[in-house]
Amino acid sequence: MHERLTLRNKVALVTGASSGLGAHFSRVLAMAGARVLISGRRQDKLDQLADRISDNQGDVLVLPMDVTDEDSIRHAIVSSNENTGPITVLVNNAGVAYPDRLVNATEEAWDRTMDTNLKGVWRVSRAVCRNLLDLELPGSIVNIASILGLHPGFGAGSYAVSKAGVIHMTRVMALELGRGRIRVNAICPGYFKTDMNKDYLESSKGREYINRTPARRTGEFHELDIPLLMLASDAGSFINGAVLPVDGGHLLNSL
Ligand SMILES: NC(=O)c1ccc[n+]([C@@H]2O[C@H](COP(=O)([O-])OP(=O)(O)OC[C@H]3O[C@@H](n4cnc5c(N)ncnc54)[C@H](OP(=O)(O)O)[C@@H]3O)[C@@H](O)[C@H]2O)c1
Repeated sequence: MHERLTLRNKVALVTGASSGLGAHFSRVLAMAGARVLISGRRQDKLDQLADRISDNQGDVLVLPMDVTDEDSIRHAIVSSNENTGPITVLVNNAGVAYPDRLVNATEEAWDRTMDTNLKGVWRVSRAVCRNLLDLELPGSIVNIASILGLHPGFGAGSYAVSKAGVIHMTRVMALELGRGRIRVNAICPGYFKTDMNKDYLESSKGREYINRTPARRTGEFHELDIPLLMLASDAGSFINGAVLPVDGGHLLNSL
């Protein structure tokens, strides 16, 4: 069973690896045997993470990339082809959130959210997939969406709309790319405490909110490990276009 979840001989790119879930995913993929390219905008954080992964015998390389910048994506593809081998596993994790109801959102916050969370996933996926199709290689993409993309909730309007777009993009790309042997799936995490939400989750309002969920707690990062590895590795070879909530049953409530 363990063998089926291995990522040996795979080159995996994680976007937004400099903190939170992305940093954790990078460690997990490295532990599963992948050569991991960690990307994001904050080089110092990426360097620190690379040191920690290398100290644990992981194979890791820092690849600075801004998912809103086409040139930096193109550079990453060329550089990986030349230095590590082509990227065959992509975890589209980079994301931003500007909590607001849609009626109060500014155009700037809307644009930045869409450009990063939605268009960013498309930009990076398009570049990685074109490369795989040119080289006739199979691949696997795991998009990190959100339960807010499956069901509306108050307070993060643009974010929720962007994640709903990521979920539909997952299905469209899965359909388009299946024949090219590229699988595209999504994980919809519930609430996990990271820089993105810890101020809210540690507030009394946030604690009350979480207390009303079926699990009455936030997720632990390790609870995402097997879903990630299942979708990224050949263990998930017949899973394509799936959208998997990992939320302790949070979606059973109203959000
Ligand atoms: N935490 C949760 O409860 C939760 C729930 C559902 C979904 N998610 C999703 O999980 C993903 C990770 O979020 P997180 O909770 O771990 O928050 P986080 O710690 O704030 O991480 C967000 C990451 O995205 C990167 N990023 C932002 N803009 C970027 C850009 N233009 N180019 C490249 N990287 C960019 C940031 O890196 P740099 O600033 O260094 O670029 C950072 O590493 C997001 O997509 C989020 O929507 C999180």
